[in-house]
Amino acid sequence: MALGRLLHGDPQTITRGETIGPARAYEVFTAVFFGGRRHRAFSRLVELSGARPGDKVLDVGCGTGYLTRLVAAAVAPGGSTVGIDPSPTVVGYARSKAGGSACSYETGVAEALEVPDASFDVVVTSLAIHHIPADVRPAALREMFRVLRPGGRLLLADFRPPRSRLGRHLIGVLTGPAMEHNPVDLLDGLAAGAGFEVRARGDVRPHLRYVQATRPEIVR
Ligand SMILES: C[S@@+](CC[C@H](N)C(=O)[O-])C[C@H]1O[C@@H](n2cnc3c(N)ncnc32)[C@H](O)[C@@H]1O
Repeated sequence: MALGRLLHGDPQTITRGETIGPARAYEVFTAVFFGGRRHRAFSRLVELSGARPGDKVLDVGCGTGYLTRLVAAAVAPGGSTVGIDPSPTVVGYARSKAGGSACSYETGVAEALEVPDASFDVVVTSLAIHHIPADVRPAALREMFRVLRPGGRLLLADFRPPRSRLGRHLIGVLTGPAMEHNPVDLLDGLAAGAGFEVRARGDVRPHLRYVQATRPEIVR
């Protein structure tokens, strides 16, 4: 739990979600947590997002920008990625890592995105949904729907708790109850409830569940 506090900051001070604390500590923790498979897992998320050269991509709850940078490489040449996160600390860190890539970052929250309607080809989000309070998750998904163009693609990826009771207990001790009991089976329903057509779902080892969805061309 202490590690969770270090990584996640103090929830008492946060009103719109749980932000992560020190960016470098998060990077080290995540590298260890993925057991050397972070790059492979997140590269697979990029493939699953369907992002192609020239696409405009939004990464919601981008944190330190790890996925944002990988997506930026996939949409070159001609594409661009925008990462949004409420934590100025991680946004600053992500900006410092952007280098010459077509990544930009803004502070903001998923449930009230300050971007125009239908302005992105792809929206991705990784490990962020469980940080957003459950009662505002539907609003966050409606915002992702709004900012995607008709026919645009959504990739939701979040932490899949271990199947074993011991594994879940260890996750709870390390990171807290939000991850131990993360209800990833509800991701499909969240997407469908916002108007998306869910296309596929599955797991990316070692820790991720994903849902692929599309904003329909015609809203019924
Ligand atoms: C575990 S980190 C994941 C970061 C990154 N996407 C990754 O895969 O490494 C969760 C992120 O969600 C962000 N977050 C918390 N509440 C949010 C909200 N309401 N809207 C958008 N992001 C939020 C946190 O600040 C944090 O950076």
